[in-house]
Amino acid sequence: MSRLAGKTILVTGASSGIGRALAEQLLARGTSVLGVSRNPASLPEGVIRIQADLTRREDVQAIFQDLGCIDALVNCAGVAYLSRIIDGNPTDWEEMWRVNVMALTLCSQLSLRHFPERGGRIINVSSMSGHRVPPSGGFYAPTKFAVRAISDSMRHEIKAAGIPVQIGTVSPGFVDTPLLDLYFRGREDQLQKTRQSMTMLKPEDVADCILTMLESPPHVEIGDIQLRSSDQRV
Ligand SMILES: NC(=O)c1ccc[n+]([C@@H]2O[C@H](COP(=O)([O-])OP(=O)(O)OC[C@H]3O[C@@H](n4cnc5c(N)ncnc54)[C@H](OP(=O)(O)O)[C@@H]3O)[C@@H](O)[C@H]2O)c1
Repeated sequence: MSRLAGKTILVTGASSGIGRALAEQLLARGTSVLGVSRNPASLPEGVIRIQADLTRREDVQAIFQDLGCIDALVNCAGVAYLSRIIDGNPTDWEEMWRVNVMALTLCSQLSLRHFPERGGRIINVSSMSGHRVPPSGGFYAPTKFAVRAISDSMRHEIKAAGIPVQIGTVSPGFVDTPLLDLYFRGREDQLQKTRQSMTMLKPEDVADCILTMLESPPHVEIGDIQLRSSDQRV
């Protein structure tokens, strides 16, 4: 039986892509999944639905208002626009910053009150773009660098405070999800070429890594997993 049977896990971004694949795999293991989305009807069957727009601080706070005990939080929600520093739209930067960085950080902070005494885990989804800036990284890559830095800061603080919570990040390369349509908006031919030139990771591949982190024994803390398709060069 999976270590995750009977546990309760909060997953943001559970309506699509990586978060959805994770929610489905958790449900199959007998885990209670609380899923966050702007549109709860889009969450998989069996998920306990929470509506929140993560760009709004009050929505993020409301997620935790009447939340009971959780064993883990997976911050999977994310937005990716190719929005350049030299001429990108600051509205796009702001949305990415709010969802990818601010909401993830606030969810992480607020979750601490909801873990049982034996402890819990927080997994943050970063990106290979949080390890090296690709030429098209724009403002997205900095948000993903921030995810890793925030996770490391929080790990230091948690250990210094003696809080029994483990923090890990997972950093995927290209994963075939709707996020890529957003990222390649206006450059659909480039997305088509990328898709033709490689077998991308599937959302389930990333979900498997997150499951490995969640299922590892309490004395094992996995800090970061980088994963790319074997076709991806950098
Ligand atoms: N796909 C890739 O190539 C790739 C590579 C590296 C890292 N990542 C990261 O992986 C994570 C998941 O991405 P994905 O590829 O699975 O993307 P996806 O299929 O587009 O899913 C994005 C999720 O984020 C949620 N979300 C976005 N804005 C939100 C908001 N304002 N409020 C609440 N929820 C919001 C969406 O929920 P609703 O729309 O239902 O609200 C959706 O569930 C992201 O952090 C992304 O940066 C993806």
